[in-house]
Amino acid sequence: MKKTEDTPWIIEPLSRDLARAEDEIAQCIRMFSDVKWDSERVPFHVFRADTIGLLQDTVDLGYVLTARRKRGDRAIAGFARVTATQIPSAHWLHELVVSPRVQLRGLGFAFMQAIRGESRKRGACRLYFTYDLFEGRNGHLYLAKCGALAIRVFPNLYGNFKGTAQPVVKSHRFMMEWDLRNSRRATLNPEELAAAAVVTRAVELKGRRRVRVEIPFELAALQHREIGRWQERQYPVLESAINRKGYRAVFLQTVPEQRRNFLVLEKP
Ligand SMILES: CC(C)(COP(=O)(O)OP(=O)(O)OC[C@H]1O[C@@H](n2cnc3c(N)ncnc32)[C@H](O)[C@@H]1OP(=O)(O)O)[C@@H](O)C(=O)NCCC(=O)NCCS
Repeated sequence: MKKTEDTPWIIEPLSRDLARAEDEIAQCIRMFSDVKWDSERVPFHVFRADTIGLLQDTVDLGYVLTARRKRGDRAIAGFARVTATQIPSAHWLHELVVSPRVQLRGLGFAFMQAIRGESRKRGACRLYFTYDLFEGRNGHLYLAKCGALAIRVFPNLYGNFKGTAQPVVKSHRFMMEWDLRNSRRATLNPEELAAAAVVTRAVELKGRRRVRVEIPFELAALQHREIGRWQERQYPVLESAINRKGYRAVFLQTVPEQRRNFLVLEKP
């Protein structure tokens, strides 16, 4: 699943040099299209104003980190945009994007570590963000590798995806909370995982502290129609468990040889 890559990434804030920063911002914005996020693309002038520090003496608008292979490279391989919230100890991760050219080489995880360092330096101890709860790769990164928790489900946060046949594809998202003081991976041993029942309906949650809910192995490999079916089948149990019954998603179990992924939910 993963290519071997030894050289560490250089992850740093946007350049202080205005011309270089503008070039980096233009690259960040192009990357929204590279990962098919055109509808969420931030206009150049807004991204520029919010991120190059012109307003910093009055308000804290957060920061942007970029990654490159070697110091001095013009091309960036990804970016993360983090903003402050009304709670000084909590930051909000707006976007984390790794160029498709270099995905699955550890850069997403390296960004999360760099975000932890930068946000801690700025006084935050929790990071919040959302992601598509059916994206196994993101679940593995955030839940298993970083030890973040899914604390809420937001139904259809960005509305229906346009142009989809029945069943409609919806933009369900997890609200994630990451304790930045925790640098541990989430761990569950094979026995604990096997003991957690795989549930498909909310009634099956009754009396169970830990359960598993299957999600697709790889969304990108599915047609819209198939994604819609997964959502219709599995979403109600996730929504019920997390929003109504007090479970949190704490882990993603992946079984690569069977191309299967399971979210692990626990009641604290
Ligand atoms: C999500 C994203 C930032 C991850 O970046 P990345 O550099 O590919 O991530 P990493 O290589 O650090 O980690 C990916 C992990 O997922 C695992 N993975 C890959 N495919 C998987 C799958 N189908 N199911 C489960 N895990 C999977 C990889 O094996 C790797 O884990 P490992 O290091 O334990 O082997 C990147 O894919 C991206 O930009 N996606 C598009 C935009 C996006 O979704 N952003 C995040 C929204 S909040």
